Amino acid sequence: MDEAARVADADDVLEGETLLFTVRDDEGELAEAFCTRLADGTVVAYRNYCQHWTDVRLDKGDGARVTNGEVWCQKHGATFQLDTGVCDFGPCEGSVMERVDMTVADGGVYVDDEAYAFEHLGPSGVDKGDGGDSRIDFTGN
Ligand code: FES
Repeated sequence: MDEAARVADADDVLEGETLLFTVRDDEGELAEAFCTRLADGTVVAYRNYCQHWTDVRLDKGDGARVTNGEVWCQKHGATFQLDTGVCDFGPCEGSVMERVDMTVADGGVYVDDEAYAFEHLGPSGVDKGDGGDSRIDFTGN
């Protein structure tokens, strides 16, 4: 695998947690994604935004809420199945998160998607205005 595409050691991608990272898309724009491990050991990754309000991040930098194989949006409580990306509850029910293809090899987790190139671990640092954070969210913040 291309070492430039290596996101993390495979041991650092855990079930029940998300690991935030930044990619560059095929138009040269930075975008955030998160990866996690499913119960069967598979590593999956998705773009880091809610399908309801696309300016709302699921992982705000300290890990998204993950329970029972689902990631939550803390704004209005939508839940997305991590194996399929499908929203099965909430205002965007039936929508599907945007997947980023990954490969696990040589003890590492790699971005393996023609549309994205790995940039760095952590947030993109790009301020998109994030209007979602200025509105009251599910947690009252
Ligand atoms: S912004 Fe995510 S459920 Fe509304």
